[in-house]
Order: sequence, then C-alpha cells, then structure tokens
Amino acid sequence: MVFVPCLLLLLLPVLRVSAATPEPCELDEDDFRCVCNFTDPKPDWSSAMQCMVAVEVEIRGGSHNLEQFLKGADVDSKQYADTIRALRWRRLTLGAAQVPALLLVALLRALGYSRLKELTFEDLEVTGPMPPPPLEATGPALSTLSLRNVSWATGGAWLGELQQWLKPGLRVLNIAQAHSLAFACAQLPTFQALTSLDLSDNPGLGERGLIAALCPHKFPALQGLALRNAGMETLSSVCAALAAASVQPHRLDLSHNSLRATAPGATSCAWPSALSSLNLSFAGLEQVPKGLPPKLSVLDLSCNRLSRAPRPDELPEVNNLTLDGNPFLDPGALEYQEDLKSSGVVPVCARSALTMGVSGALALLQGAGDFA
Ligand SMILES: *[C@@H]1O[C@H](CO)[C@@H](O)[C@H](O)[C@H]1NC(C)=O
Ligand SMILES: *[C@@H]1O[C@H](CO)[C@@H](O)[C@H](O)[C@H]1NC(C)=O
Ligand SMILES: *[C@@H]1O[C@H](CO)[C@@H](O)[C@H](O)[C@H]1NC(C)=O
Ligand SMILES: *[C@@H]1O[C@H](CO)[C@@H](O)[C@H](O)[C@H]1NC(C)=O
Repeated sequence: MVFVPCLLLLLLPVLRVSAATPEPCELDEDDFRCVCNFTDPKPDWSSAMQCMVAVEVEIRGGSHNLEQFLKGADVDSKQYADTIRALRWRRLTLGAAQVPALLLVALLRALGYSRLKELTFEDLEVTGPMPPPPLEATGPALSTLSLRNVSWATGGAWLGELQQWLKPGLRVLNIAQAHSLAFACAQLPTFQALTSLDLSDNPGLGERGLIAALCPHKFPALQGLALRNAGMETLSSVCAALAAASVQPHRLDLSHNSLRATAPGATSCAWPSALSSLNLSFAGLEQVPKGLPPKLSVLDLSCNRLSRAPRPDELPEVNNLTLDGNPFLDPGALEYQEDLKSSGVVPVCARSALTMGVSGALALLQGAGDFA
C-alpha cells in the first residue's frame, strides 16, 4: 500500500523495483521531512520506505491508480500495529492519485495505531463505495484534516463516511476546491470538538451552498469560520445561513468575495452574538456595509473601494479597524484596482506598494531591473 510506507514491508514481493530511475523520495538531513513524487510511469514505490523515520511525510502519487495495492490492504493491520506505533509521523500529505475507497479506509485503520495529528489529501479521486462504518472509530486521532480538490464516488455522503473512521477530537477542518459540499446532514455525526472550519476556495459555494454545507447543530464548538473566495454575495444572506445552521462563530472571514451592498428588501438578520471579528478585505466594497454585527471589535476593510472613512456611528464598538488599500487613503489604489479588474486579474492589493504609491513602486521595480 503506497501511502503507508510501513505497509510496504509486506508488499515488497509485489513491487517491481526499477533501479535505473532517480529516487522519487527525498529525506532531509534531519530525518524530519520526507517528500516523494512518483511521477515515473513505473515508479519505484519502495523508495517510500525511507520516509518511515520522518516526522512530516508528503507523498504524491503522480496520478497513478493505486488499485494495485488493494491486494495488500486486506491484511489485518493489527499485525503491524507495533511497527506503526513506532513511527514518528505527525503530519502526512497524500496527493495526486486515484485511490479506491477501500484502500483509503485500510490506510486510516493502519494510521489508527500511529500518533498522526495532521492529515492532508490533495488532488485525489476516491473511487468506489466506502465500506460500511466500523463499530467504533478505529482511525487516527487527528487534530487537523485538510482536503483540497478531492472527489468522492459517494457524493454528499463523503464527509460523514470519512468522519466515522476518525477518532473523535478533530479541531480543524479545511475543505477547498470541493466537488460536493452538499452534505447528507442526517448521516453526519456531530463535530463536538471542531473549533475551526475553513471552506475557502470554493468559489461555486455561494450562500445556498453554505446552507447545505453547514448542517444544523453539527458544529457546536465552532469559533472560526473562513469563507474566503467562496462565492458569497451579501452580508445579509451569509447571516441568514449562519442563523439557519445555528452556528455561533467568533471570527468570520469573508475576504476575497465580491460583496454587494445588502439587497433591497432583505430581511434584517441577527448575527451570532459571539461574533467579534469580521474580515471584509478584498470584497469590492464601495461603502461601509449596513447591518454589520453589533459587537464587532475587529474589522478588516482593507483593499476595498471605500471613498471615505467610516463614521464612528457606523462602527460603534470596533477598536481594531484596518482600512489600508482604499482609495480615500490612497488615490492610487482605485486606479490600480481598475487596471487589475480590466486586465481580468484577480484583484490584489499590494499594501506596501500602495502606501508608497503605485508610481513609487514602479520606480522601485524599474530600479531593481537596472541591477538585474
Ligand atoms: C512532481 O513531479 C512533477 C513532474 O516532475 C512536477 O510537475 C510536480 O510539480 C512535482 N510535485 C511536487 C509536489 O514536487
Ligand atoms: C484535481 O485533481 C485531479 C485528480 O483527481 C487532477 O486531475 C486535477 O488536475 C486537479 N485540479 C486542480 C485544479 O488541481
Ligand atoms: C483578512 O483577510 C486578508 C486576506 O484573506 C488577510 O490578508 C488579512 O490578514 C485578514 N485580516 C485579519 C484581521 O485577519
Ligand atoms: C487587530 O486584530 C488582529 C487580528 O485579530 C490582531 O492580529 C492584531 O494584533 C490586532 N491589533 C490590535 C492593535 O489589537
């Protein structure tokens, strides 16, 4: 099984080792970080053995289909429990592969004996149905689970099915470029310990998708919710989605969404009472939005298109306000953002450059060019 070098021990007989190709895996001098990239058409999987001593392990499968490792996956991992217990692995990243769900589950079962804390899946296509849930969670006791561009054959049921293999206690969940965030809420267990949920970089999500993703009462301990670049359009509908899900975050990040001033006729909405920090930077705002949460202490409005400073009555309790990168502070900022807009580039706001003025920055760049 490729993703668990330790299980390679039992697979060595089935692995074809091509000695001529360069090593796909590299272990650093401190035996801390080990990175594998199996891009060869016939990769030398056994190279991953050297990652057994590392603390951080990153393995990219070169888009291979890992079905071939299924025959080793039904081996009872109890036999190897002591080997896995001895691993120093704390962080594991797996990416760029097609993985049968059965193999993924075998991996999680094996990792159940490890002390792994952070697990990341990237660019994975999980094929086939997930096996029925275990009687009790046998997988790793993770604190952080991150997924980016992972597709599941099982559609919206995937999160519930995956969570059933993890021991409880997950604190941080990050899901970017998801193929489905419309979770089957009835099957989703409660994330009792989850304090941070990041659904950023899901530009197709939108407020409707947010309502489907935030299953009511499943995130009782949530403190931070990040929705950067998640297709959000108005504050009032985000507020309505939070209310529908009964989540009570303290911090909400809505940066990098194109926010409109609240739609006319929108019903006013009660923000979560604990919400004290709101990030509205890079949101294309031309005015200070109405209907901000009443108890805000931190507000980031940087890199918008505000033409005047907010009046004190607009932000009664905010004591930590960020406004840089707005045209009223820096006339160059608007022009700069227009240029970027018309060039189709995602707006960026080079704050340090803006404070000295775009022309200053250009001069600097030209200056740098002279030395090149
Ligand atoms: C893996 O190798 C491929 C091909 O050489 C390369 O394009 C890719 O960036 C590499 N990935 C990593 C994470 O190093
Ligand atoms: C997403 O992952 C798939 C493999 O499952 C890969 O082919 C595709 O290029 C990835 N997309 C992006 C945007 O990285
Ligand atoms: C707000 O979001 C921007 C961009 O995502 C980030 O650079 C900035 O640090 C955030 N501000 C706060 C106060 O967290
Ligand atoms: C303002 O809030 C940000 C984000 O929470 C924090 O990093 C920063 O230290 C705060 N600044 C002040 C002056 O309180």
